Amino acid sequence: MTKRVFSGVQPTGNIHIGNYLGALKQFVQLQEDNECIYCIVDMHAITLPKDPKELRKNILDTAALYMAVGVDPSRSVVFVQSDVPGHADLAWILMCNAYTGELSRMTQFKDKNRDNESAPMGLFSYPVLMAADILLYDSDIVPVGNDQKQHIELTRDIAVRINNKYGKDTFVVPDGRFLKEGARIMALDDPMSKMSKSAESALSRISLLDEAATVKKAIMRSTTDSDGEIRFDAENKPGISNLLTIYSAFSGVPATELERRYRGEGYGAFKKDLAEVVAESLAPIKRSYAEIRQSEELIRALKDGEERANALAEKTMKRVKERIGLGR
Ligand code: AMP
Ligand code: TRP
Repeated sequence: MTKRVFSGVQPTGNIHIGNYLGALKQFVQLQEDNECIYCIVDMHAITLPKDPKELRKNILDTAALYMAVGVDPSRSVVFVQSDVPGHADLAWILMCNAYTGELSRMTQFKDKNRDNESAPMGLFSYPVLMAADILLYDSDIVPVGNDQKQHIELTRDIAVRINNKYGKDTFVVPDGRFLKEGARIMALDDPMSKMSKSAESALSRISLLDEAATVKKAIMRSTTDSDGEIRFDAENKPGISNLLTIYSAFSGVPATELERRYRGEGYGAFKKDLAEVVAESLAPIKRSYAEIRQSEELIRALKDGEERANALAEKTMKRVKERIGLGR
């Protein structure tokens, strides 16, 4: 039986190899035998201030990047969140069924909410909008990186809670899908923190559109350790282990085999080869991105995605509103 798949990425620029290995790579694989819906979550992006011009550009950049890595808009629905009013509509209904206590326990909110009196309400309710994204399409599977585990759990809790109140087939209860390898890529300059779009240092990440020279610089300078042994041990050797994960994910060669191949070699040689593997993997993505980004096809695909997504969303909203007593 084909499953319904849903996921989203924020249009914030700097989409990096962590986003690719944790999420985007799964988007492409899942298209083979599922019904997939991939969203550019622009309403999530405005939970923190954004320059309007840049945001508008980033939305198209992100859509083009989806397609450049292999998301095929003739097979999957590719669309922009704010083009479908059902997301905000359903988010309100879910908010009325979510608890302030459970939302204050979200680690992503706690991380970003240093100054708690003036945190935007949107930042607090961010996970509820995410739950609405997922539940709006009766999604079975949500491919994401590990950092979204807590948000998926919350989505499931809210869905079950509403099903218990209004009928058990009000919402499909979704499952997260996390890869064994790549679900949490760490920052190159600090392997104790995850690779992120917003880290100040550009050397902390490799963006999908980086030039080969930039990729090489970030990898050669990445933080490792001083014992000089190429061995996977995430706890004691987080830097080298992260590099082994990246190498393995891009090349398809298991980490144990890489350990064997590089036995007795120095970190320098290993890093140099890794830089080549990564740059070679990114080259076709960059080429196809440049083509798609300036084609009329991009705008047409998003328009088509908007129509298909709206049709699905309207059906769910009708059902949900009926259940809870809204409308007539
Ligand atoms: P975001 O950039 O927060 O919109 O994230 C887009 C997708 O990339 C989500 O599925 C995240 O879980 C995933 N992701 C973000 N950072 C990483 C990382 N360092 N390693 C693996 N996956 C990640
Ligand atoms: N919160 C996710 C992130 O930061 C992005 C996102 C928003 C998402 N809505 C979603 C992911 C729905 C999966 C499904 O990465």
